[in-house]
Amino acid sequence: MLAVARPIEGDSLLNRASAPATPARRPPVIEAQGLQKSFVVNGKRLAVFENMSLSIAQGDFVSIVGPSGCGKSTLLKMISGLETPSGGDIRFQGAPVTGPADGMIYVFQQYTKSIFPWRTVLENIEFGLSSHKNMPRALAQEKCREYVQLVGLDGYEHHYPYQLSGGMQQRVVIARALICEPAVLLMDEPFSAVDALTRALLQELILKIWSDIELTVLFVTHDVEEAVFLSSQIISLSRAPARIHETVAIDLPYPRDQIATRAAPRFAELRKLLFSGIFLQEKGLAPEALVRGES
Ligand SMILES: Nc1ncnc2c1ncn2[C@@H]1O[C@H](COP(=O)(O)OP(=O)(O)OP(=O)(O)O)[C@@H](O)[C@H]1O
Ligand SMILES: [Mg+2]
Repeated sequence: MLAVARPIEGDSLLNRASAPATPARRPPVIEAQGLQKSFVVNGKRLAVFENMSLSIAQGDFVSIVGPSGCGKSTLLKMISGLETPSGGDIRFQGAPVTGPADGMIYVFQQYTKSIFPWRTVLENIEFGLSSHKNMPRALAQEKCREYVQLVGLDGYEHHYPYQLSGGMQQRVVIARALICEPAVLLMDEPFSAVDALTRALLQELILKIWSDIELTVLFVTHDVEEAVFLSSQIISLSRAPARIHETVAIDLPYPRDQIATRAAPRFAELRKLLFSGIFLQEKGLAPEALVRGES
């Protein structure tokens, strides 16, 4: 069965977002300690991370924002095991990450590069089940149909990607990632290539999925408004070598609504707080005192 109920009663998402995390109830699912990463290009060393530490609690929706080139994608790739850190330690559910780990799925920004043009919607989604090779065909098909429904692609099962809009293709990619039933979904600017309305619909979709199934989301975006709308917590990075500039708990109640949430005065306050932090940093005007959150 797909749905694992997310507890709502006393542990409402509003409380979870606004109250300090209680480790006994929500253990960290991802932990990074003293992370270092540098690249050498044409004999020149570029330090992207020198000493980055963070902890992501199970069930959180965490967005990472920061200036272009500060290392957001590199951080996500290191967490996913696709990129090796130059130093430090990353753990997923307490175990060191030494390569792509079962239970963590990375959704690339450019869905056109990760979707198979020669496969139908159903076949693309079924690819997500390739690690379950022993699953009977009928069961696999049933499971795929469940995920087709989840992302709202009913009726398009036998369409090929070229017969779909960009937003629909992105839904296929999301379904293919979710069918693996990951504990953690890592998304790198997943909605940046679609129009504003499709983007709003995909934001609603990902929030609905997150509230329906037991999932931790780590979401990279350039868009501060998108981050505030989606997240329970936002980590804002400084320029490379990146530090955590600030960590902001987003105390807006869930479920969120594209009209009402965005119209809330608190939404505007949070957007201003985050945007001004990034903007002042970009202009070299961020006070040193704001650079915090790193051990
Ligand atoms: N494989 C690589 N080889 C050399 N340098 C790299 C490599 N990958 C990333 N970099 C460098 O590391 C820095 C961080 O890159 P990264 O892609 O993580 O930034 P980003 O924050 O995701 O930027 P954007 O917001 O533009 O996507 C950049 O200066 C980039 O040039
Ligand atoms: Mg990037």
